[in-house]
Amino acid sequence: MRAPAPAAHADSPVRVPTRWRKEVERILITEDEIAQRIRRMSRGIERDFTGREMVVVSLLNGTVLFLADLIRNLSLPLRLDFIGVSSYGAGTESGNLVITKELRLDVRGRDVLLVDDILDTGKTLVRVMGKLRALKPRRIKTCVLLNKAARRVEDIEADYVGFEIPDYFVVGYGLDFAERYRNLPFVGVLHPDVYKQSPQPPKPASPKRAGARRKG
Ligand code: IMP
Ligand code: MG
Repeated sequence: MRAPAPAAHADSPVRVPTRWRKEVERILITEDEIAQRIRRMSRGIERDFTGREMVVVSLLNGTVLFLADLIRNLSLPLRLDFIGVSSYGAGTESGNLVITKELRLDVRGRDVLLVDDILDTGKTLVRVMGKLRALKPRRIKTCVLLNKAARRVEDIEADYVGFEIPDYFVVGYGLDFAERYRNLPFVGVLHPDVYKQSPQPPKPASPKRAGARRKG
């Protein structure tokens, strides 16, 4: 059983920077909260992986900021590789996954840490775990910055979770909507106006949710 992750609530007193106020409704997790949480997560990962060189496998593109901060906090020998995962076509729901970049490192007999930005329906991680298991690593542990448990359809949990979040469509700190907003240093709730104007409006998955599906 993993230790419970802190829950993020959309009542942060920190104001959205003026530049983003039209597009981002509110801040869910601040830059400082992210940094602090990643330091704690790293300590937990270090305890579990001590003694062997691990292979960190990170899913593109959503993990770029999280990964960079996570691995610089890990005082462990590691090698790093990426798998590109994307969903194409008109469908905004996850499920129609396309691998855009294959793993190149050999993970046979290795300890693998699989990193993703957010665990939502679970379809991405289930698919990628299947691919990885076929390569016969010694073990695979999964690490995600965000967990949206309310949306899960697959039977999967991550071993390391940064924050539990409610069923909102979030952007920033690597997470995108239509490839935008990855550069925001915080995690924020996307303003409904943004996806209303989108040429490919996402289907709301629940009344609370600004449901869009973008991979990477
Ligand atoms: P899953 O396959 O449904 O678990 O979705 C995982 C992927 O969907 C993540 O790696 C993200 O790229 C994307 N995703 C899911 N929820 C969000 C969100 O709220 N904002 C941005 N991307 C999301
Ligand atoms: Mg992703």
